[in-house]
Amino acid sequence: MDANQNDYFVIKAKENGVQVIGLTRGQDTKFHHTEKLDKGEIMIAQFTDHTSAVKIRGKAVVMTKFGVMDTEE
Ligand code: TRP
Repeated sequence: MDANQNDYFVIKAKENGVQVIGLTRGQDTKFHHTEKLDKGEIMIAQFTDHTSAVKIRGKAVVMTKFGVMDTEE
């Protein structure tokens, strides 16, 4: 198992309807899950055997081991 899969990341929505989209690991890169967050809601997630990338749509604060990023900037 990839050690990076242990790392959690946090997404905090700054507006209603922020989408957290999980993309599949492996040969095909497809959306497999879309989570909708409303303003102030937080999602705590990991990369897994099924999820290798995450796309975030909308205004949000994203916290990873690389730091804190704002999707607006
Ligand atoms: N069933 C998904 C998985 O185990 C759940 C998941 C984990 C997920 N991390 C995610 C969904 C990030 C969206 C974004 O991979």
